[in-house]
Amino acid sequence: MSKQHSLHQQHVVVLGGTSGLGRAVAYAANEAGAKVTILGRSADSSDGITGIAVDITDNSSLAKAFATTGTIQHLVLTSGARVGSPRLAALSQEELRLAFNVKVFGYVQAIQAALPYLAEDASITLTSGILARKYGAGGLLKSMVNASVEAMGKNLAKELAPRRVNVVSPGVIDTELWGIAGSEGRNATMARVGSGLPAGRVGQANEVAQVYLLAMQNGFMTGTVLDIEGGGLL
Ligand SMILES: NC(=O)c1ccc[n+]([C@@H]2O[C@H](COP(=O)([O-])OP(=O)(O)OC[C@H]3O[C@@H](n4cnc5c(N)ncnc54)[C@H](OP(=O)(O)O)[C@@H]3O)[C@@H](O)[C@H]2O)c1
Repeated sequence: MSKQHSLHQQHVVVLGGTSGLGRAVAYAANEAGAKVTILGRSADSSDGITGIAVDITDNSSLAKAFATTGTIQHLVLTSGARVGSPRLAALSQEELRLAFNVKVFGYVQAIQAALPYLAEDASITLTSGILARKYGAGGLLKSMVNASVEAMGKNLAKELAPRRVNVVSPGVIDTELWGIAGSEGRNATMARVGSGLPAGRVGQANEVAQVYLLAMQNGFMTGTVLDIEGGGLL
């Protein structure tokens, strides 16, 4: 029997929901009728969405936050540190640690903290990135971090079953990650990257949000990495 999960009245928790992709997921889930909680260091409540301040690198902060969320039907993790693309010789210990602390160790700690509150048929959706499987000079740090997230998703899909675990892997998407909206630098990067893609442009956060909603709602989808990159992997 096919199972499609309506988001109506479901509790969706988005860790990273204060910006970019996570915020777009929070708004899209809210629009689909879900009860939405966003977590992040700068989280605030507004527009019918509950915000709880949490630092994903801090276990006690995570434990406190999840103790107040109640039962979770869908957990989404989009947090990521804004790190650069240094070549090996320029890669600092600080940047290496920050990237792994937020997106690899942070995701593991967050899922551990959320586990007691996840519904029996909950979904977990993680976020990797195109560089998990696209390689080149300067790609080392983001490749390693995002490949770890994809390995995490596939292992947890088996270990946490019947809960479903999927990974969304975006290409370049026009978010605050790339600078302030409308800034010259961000616009130039988006135009340059977009012109080299089969899609002819970079992605928008709301287009990627729909992929997270698909992962939450499709009851047969688990252990999957969903690429949304305008053809960037080709
Ligand atoms: N946009 C792209 O082109 C692109 C491409 C490939 C992969 N990705 C991945 O997609 C994810 C979302 O990217 P985005 O574009 O939405 O980036 P973003 O706008 O920079 O958002 C990053 C989010 O991470 C949260 N965060 C950072 N450090 C945190 C911490 N210590 N504790 C809790 N939350 C923390 C931030 O919230 P607070 O500041 O409130 O803590 C923010 O909500 C990231 O994992 C990124 O690597 C993005």
